[in-house]
Amino acid sequence: MKLPFAESFKIKMVEPIRKSTREERIGWIKDAKYNLFNLRSDQVFIDLLTDSGTGAMSDRQWAAMMIGDESYAGASSYFKMKNAIKSILGFEYFLPTHQGRAAENVLFSVLVKEGNLVPGNSHFDTTKGHIEFRKAKAIDCTIDEAFDTTVLHPFKGNVDLNKLETVLKNNPKEKIPFIIVTVTCNSSGGQPVSMNNLKEVSAMAKKYGIPVIFDAARFAENAYFIKLREKGYENKTIKEIVAEMFSYADAMTMSAKKDAIVNMGGFIAMRDKELFRQASVFNIMFEGYITYGGMSGRDMNALAQGLDEGTEFDYLETRIKQVEYLGEKIKSYGVPLQEPFGGHAIFVDAKKFLSHIPKEEFQAQTLGIELYIEGGVRSVEIGAILADRDPITRVNRYPALELLRLAIPRRVYTNNHMDYIAASLGNVYERRLEIRHGFAIKYEAPIMRHFTVEMEKV
Ligand code: F0G
Repeated sequence: MKLPFAESFKIKMVEPIRKSTREERIGWIKDAKYNLFNLRSDQVFIDLLTDSGTGAMSDRQWAAMMIGDESYAGASSYFKMKNAIKSILGFEYFLPTHQGRAAENVLFSVLVKEGNLVPGNSHFDTTKGHIEFRKAKAIDCTIDEAFDTTVLHPFKGNVDLNKLETVLKNNPKEKIPFIIVTVTCNSSGGQPVSMNNLKEVSAMAKKYGIPVIFDAARFAENAYFIKLREKGYENKTIKEIVAEMFSYADAMTMSAKKDAIVNMGGFIAMRDKELFRQASVFNIMFEGYITYGGMSGRDMNALAQGLDEGTEFDYLETRIKQVEYLGEKIKSYGVPLQEPFGGHAIFVDAKKFLSHIPKEEFQAQTLGIELYIEGGVRSVEIGAILADRDPITRVNRYPALELLRLAIPRRVYTNNHMDYIAASLGNVYERRLEIRHGFAIKYEAPIMRHFTVEMEKV
């Protein structure tokens, strides 16, 4: 018989997690002001809040940590990270930062000015936040297919070249500091960008003389999808695909907490020496000296090792097949999902799931709270609360997609956990019509409100 799929790792260390009762959870989420970020981790049974920094490091990563060099300047750990970035991603210059948004802060301090426009494919919230904070505007040029959860497009992260060209053609070059392409595209559901699209964006950018920057948090998962779905790449290694992907970028920001499988860390990488010099000034001010930038030597070692492991096919296949397993299981209960399934998470279409709740009562947030109460599973809203208010009109933005994200930490949970998550969501789906009301905002911060928002039942 055909042998079934099995994980390409075995488990050497475990961490106990605790179940709770429904009554306990009803009380805890109320005390948390109906904001899942406010829960304590021991009030959560399975934590799908994020795949960021929540992965399990390998024995080789832990071993690398033991030989971290904690010298302030010129540590060997810095050079290990530099070599990994050069050999895997192909960039000459890099600056370590403590995480992805710090990389954005440093790089955008050089590049983004008031009144600028930054086109891209569904910018991640911190990326958009760092653009809007500088009184510039993020323009979404994602293909329309991304906004219909039922369309089976293989590369829903793609940039719509017509939308992009409209922005480039109708604005002076000085107003557009760069184009940002997020691989995979988190905000549209962990959806990949095709190699062909990266190539075309790069060609168009060259034509208009504008640099291309990758938001590369999940670049390896993107490469896996290119290998599986794009013609001509089926026999290439992940590392070969990664090298070609980055050949179309002038610079990149990286949250290493995702595809480099570390708990904390990030970097900026670039080809241009002058940009490196300018960014170095901000890195020293905000992060730390240019050879550690907010990271300890041991963490840089783990990151270098993680970049290598994270771009191996067997690891990626194990990872993404688990996400797919969860998706299929949930789908078998009739729950509406974003398809095809993303790389790092399953996205539930909350607008369809709770179609009887008005959007003003935050469908995805309501669903996230119900899922927590049902099974102690913590997810995250990727909908109207995250979309925030328009920075100028202050009117609530209601995005085309109202999603609940179930992000799967790397190498952490088993498929029994996936079954449990799917059943919890299946139960909520069965009783969805008993959910009569959503939630209203009681307190919100002026920017990136989702982290600290306080809600009450309608
Ligand atoms: N870019 C993308 C595409 C991201 O998904 C994230 C973080 C960042 C940048 C910022 O990186 O967290 O290291 O500062 N995403 C996390 C998530 C928070 O849950 O998706 P960071």
